[in-house]
Formats: sequence, C-alpha cells, structure tokens
Amino acid sequence: MIIRNAKFYLGGRVVKKDILIEKGKIAGFGKFKGEAMDAEGLFALPGLIDPHVHLRDPGMTHKEDFETGTRAALAGGCTTVLDMPNTRPPCTSLSEYRKKKEIAKRKALCDYGLHFGASGSNIQGVKKARPRSLKLYMGESTGRMHAGNMLTLWRHFSNFPKNRPLIVHAEDQETLAAMKKEGRGRPEAAEKIGVEKARILAQEADRVIYFAHTTLFETVHLAKIWKKSLIEVSPHHLFLSREKDGKRLKEFSKVYPPLRSEGERRELWGALYHVDAVGSDHAPHTPAEKRKGAAGFPGLETSLSLFLDAYNRGEVELPWIIDRMAESPARIFGLKSKGRIDKGYDGDITLVDLKEEWKVKADEFASKCGWTPYEGFRLKGKVKKVVLRGKLAADESGVTGKTKGKNVL
Ligand code: NCD
Ligand code: ZN
Ligand code: ZN
Repeated sequence: MIIRNAKFYLGGRVVKKDILIEKGKIAGFGKFKGEAMDAEGLFALPGLIDPHVHLRDPGMTHKEDFETGTRAALAGGCTTVLDMPNTRPPCTSLSEYRKKKEIAKRKALCDYGLHFGASGSNIQGVKKARPRSLKLYMGESTGRMHAGNMLTLWRHFSNFPKNRPLIVHAEDQETLAAMKKEGRGRPEAAEKIGVEKARILAQEADRVIYFAHTTLFETVHLAKIWKKSLIEVSPHHLFLSREKDGKRLKEFSKVYPPLRSEGERRELWGALYHVDAVGSDHAPHTPAEKRKGAAGFPGLETSLSLFLDAYNRGEVELPWIIDRMAESPARIFGLKSKGRIDKGYDGDITLVDLKEEWKVKADEFASKCGWTPYEGFRLKGKVKKVVLRGKLAADESGVTGKTKGKNVL
C-alpha cells in the first residue's frame, strides 16, 4: 500500500511524503509510483492505542461486544485497544483468559490485548496465566471486582512481575464505604487516599504502577512522588465537569471516578505534561441502564477528536497527542511494533483532517450503546481514513469490516 502526500512527524519534524507499507510493515518514505491512497491535505498519525476500554464481551454483549467495540475503535482512529477484565465472568483465571482470547480472535476488527484481573483470591491464578498487565480495582466499580484490603493489595503488588504494568483504579474502598454511609457520595478523598496507598505500596515493592483515569492535579503529583508511577487521564475528566455538564446529562453523568468541578477540570490541564497516557475508559451502558444508575461513558469515537479540537484552540500540541495516544502506551505495554510512523513498525496509520468540523451524533456511531455524553458537540478535527497493518480499515463511508485483529499483548 502507498499512502500519497500525507503530512506527518518524522524525526521530530513535519514532512510531506508518501508512506510505503509492505507486508503490513512501514517500508519507506519518499515518492513511489503506482496505485495509491490519496492523503493530500490530511495529517497521518500513528494508529492510536487505547489502553483502557471495556468491550463487555463476554457476558454483557447487549452493551458492546468485540466486533462493535473494535468498530467503534477504528471509527475513532484507534488501531489497537487493550480491554479491561470486568466482563462476566471476570477475566481473573487462566480458563476465562483463554476463553476471552478466543472470542476476541474471532470478532476483533482491530488489534487488541487483554488485561488480566486481580481478585481477592487469585494470586496463584495470576502466576499461572502470566499476563503482561494486571488490573486491580481498589474500590467498587462496574463488575464489583474490587480487591482493596491491604493484604490482598500487598500480595498483588509484591507478586506481579515488577516491570509489568499493574493498572490500578485507585479509589480507596474503605473511604468509599464510609462516605457512602455518611451520605457523601464518592468524594475526591477516595482518590487521594487510594493514590497515596497505592503509590506507597508500589514504592515498597519497587514496582511499576499505572494509575488509571486520574482526575486531579493533586493526585497526579502525589502519584509522581514515586519514579515508577505512570499516569493515565481520560477525556471526560478533561472536557466535562460537574457544573458544566452534570445538569445537562443528569443521570447520564455518572462515571467512576466522578466528573469533578470546573476548577479542578482546569487544574488537570495544568498537569498534562506529567501525564503518560490517554485512556478513553470506553465504558458503554445502555440508556435504560444509565437511568438505573450505571456508571461509565462510551469514549472511543470521540477521544481523538476532542483532543484535535483542543489542539485547534491552542490548548495542546500535536506531538503531545501523538505521544500520549500512541507512542507512550506502546512503550508502557511493551507493544514493540506499534505506536510510531517509522520504518519497520506496523503499518497502522490514522489519517485526519485537522480542520474539518463535525457534529457529534450518537446515532451515527458504531458503538452498540446508542448514546454519548458529547451529543451535539461541534468538534474541529476528524478521522478520515484508518489503515491497520497495511489494510484499509475505515474511511468516510465507515468501517470496512474487512480487517482482522490480532492479539498484541
Ligand atoms: C467502568 C465500567 O463501566 O466498566 N465504569 C466507569 O464508570 N468508569 C469501570 C471502571 O473503569 O472503573
Ligand atoms: Zn476504573
Ligand atoms: Zn475503566
């Protein structure tokens, strides 16, 4: 495949060249003869890697499944997704891990990896499965698989291989439970205490720790006291706030950790350079389930465009977007052939029109859940074509359905 006249970053500078992809790998840059995909006027980003998605398969496939979820990923410019273990049954044993790998292999249209889950009783199970990453919920969230007591935490922190990412949802269970009794909802204190506990334990165990969906300037800095802490932020905590969007979204505004105040949302932007990765935390639920209190937002089809829109307003630079949404997740999760437009890397390319404006409409989305917290937003910056290992995966008329994902973790 030849991608003609794309603009992209090469060796730190923007260039305009053809990109040659052979046998699924980037083979060279320059001028090439022959039939080509026209990318005149478009910017090429490395295919994005979303390290935090909930594709709900198996067990909750009325919300999403591996096919619709990876369609949503491709439509949003992601060529690799890393799926969370709070499926049903949870992915906390070798047998469930194997079953889920089979499902993904059969249905996925983009590349994927599966995070294994930590439970209160599966230290041996984790050892047997030898996963590349482990997800631990300190506090209760969708799927109720929290493993937050100190002994369980310590066992997972000290037993899981120290250089592999231990992904932590760091809202402290004891704080959540106490505050709930006091009628105080889900306070910031739960995140502050959770991050402090996890950071201290990671330090004690001398290990890498990855903080999922961090929401506060303060917790970013608390986490970073430890040099092996990695920080993820999710778009909704940067683009939505309690005051601004809570009223509009009503019961649809529920997400864990919750939307914060407008002041805190702005402060989080001030911590951006300490952030290591963006994870959409794509957590689809049906509208009926949202009305009954389900927590979580779909995010795959809006994540990149929200950041491109922010880029157009001068709030973030393109190299930051490329690094935190592709190169850095690849490095963190050990995806050696992903995350960069360079010779020898996988031919995963997301072509965007940086200036095109579009209006968010959930009924045009590929996700099964049928709603988005960004309904009606006008965003500047749009995904135009997506290439997965040298094959066209999506274009203006939608996801082609002709690609097949493979396991990369
Ligand atoms: C997520 C879900 O629904 O799976 N919900 C959420 O509010 N973020 C779970 C999670 O990421 O904690
Ligand atoms: Zn979480
Ligand atoms: Zn999540």
